Amino acid sequence: TSAALWGGRFASGPSPELVELSRSTHFDWRLAPYDLAGSRAHAVVLQAAGLLSRDDLTTLIAGIDALEAEVASGAFAAQPDDEDVHTALERGLLERLGADLGGRLRAGRSRNDQIATLFKMYLRDHGRRISVLVTELVEALAAQAETHLGVAMPGRTHLQHAQPVLLSHHLLAHAWPLVRDLDRLADWDARVSADSPYGSGALAGSSLGLDPEKVAADLGFTGSTANSIDGTAARDFVAEFAFVTAQIGVDVSRLAEEIIIWNTKEFDFVTLHDGYSTGSSIMPQKKNPDIAELARGKSGRLIGNLTGLLATLKGLPLAYNRDLQEDKEPVFDSIDTLEVLLPAFTGMVATLTFHTERMQALAPQGFALATDIAEWLVREGVPFRVAHELSGACVQVCEQRGIELWDLSDDDFAAISPALTPRVRDVLTVEGSLASRDSRGGTAQVRVAEQLAELRDRLR
Ligand code: ARG
Repeated sequence: TSAALWGGRFASGPSPELVELSRSTHFDWRLAPYDLAGSRAHAVVLQAAGLLSRDDLTTLIAGIDALEAEVASGAFAAQPDDEDVHTALERGLLERLGADLGGRLRAGRSRNDQIATLFKMYLRDHGRRISVLVTELVEALAAQAETHLGVAMPGRTHLQHAQPVLLSHHLLAHAWPLVRDLDRLADWDARVSADSPYGSGALAGSSLGLDPEKVAADLGFTGSTANSIDGTAARDFVAEFAFVTAQIGVDVSRLAEEIIIWNTKEFDFVTLHDGYSTGSSIMPQKKNPDIAELARGKSGRLIGNLTGLLATLKGLPLAYNRDLQEDKEPVFDSIDTLEVLLPAFTGMVATLTFHTERMQALAPQGFALATDIAEWLVREGVPFRVAHELSGACVQVCEQRGIELWDLSDDDFAAISPALTPRVRDVLTVEGSLASRDSRGGTAQVRVAEQLAELRDRLR
């Protein structure tokens, strides 16, 4: 029995090819619980508007509850000729309640306002889930930072040794972007929660005296949409959500890339836990950072989902167009991707072993303390432009002789400039360099400890 939601003005049913093309139940079925929640809220306002008797409302709600249980158990499923989740669920109600009562529920609503509302509800739930998973990753980074407080490593720019930093400082630099992603999810949720489209109808609102604010409150929103055309046509909430998931992917990917590099023989900064690394089918010695590589790879997919969606939206006139059915799969994919990626990634981060002695030993190499010489000279009253030149001259001498800055003798320093007295050696240690960078946000251990506390405060 076809239960198409349209057909009165058609002499024939849809062609099989159209049915194939049009069907969306294989991906929108996950919205079924939200559709049923919407139906319950809608039935209540229909009754309040005098369009259903109290008994009808009771019967209808009981029917929706029963259908919900069958959807949950799998006993009720979409049929091949159900166009979408809304069609299938209306068929379910008609089968249970009969055409008269079942057929009353559709008054004053459209799949256009339904889908916009349900999609928001679904995204809000998964936004919360993703926030939990991102928080767990931030906590794993914070735990590693806490364990390794005091360990130095080479800080890099252009992937070249730049200045020594604390490993904890570097790890927390990966945590803060994720904290901002959590903020983005919260901002997004506040915006979406105030804007329930239910009651917008197909585009112009309803003539039936329904109460969109009541429906909104029942569905967990704080308010309903101010413009029914906007309510049914807008998808910036989807694009914004897709952006946040893509940004999380990119943030995770940048850390992934570093872990991949740190895990090479040449760097040798980390060992991956056996449970979070993979082997090779031919090379027995291999131990590969596949989780990090999948994270890096999947970030491309998350970006693609965002750009594809924006391309779908860019030329659409108001209000609803069927193109909008294409908004769901990419974002469902982004959600599914993050919900499987993040737990694995967090496990990998939490179980990483850092080769702290090697990192510590490499921290000052490659003339990473040259800035410390220049800034020491500045504190001695030398203009920075001159100090920069003098420190550069030290580097040049070292490079010619194949030595490091702390290998220069007092005479070597004096020959470069009388300003370079033996006291310059005070800053030619990693400990001295780190401790001196004690501005807010700097890499001195006291500041990094404060930073860790600040991060944990933000997570609360
Ligand atoms: N399945 C559609 C979607 O996902 C909602 C139905 C609206 N269809 C329509 N012909 N007005 O966007």
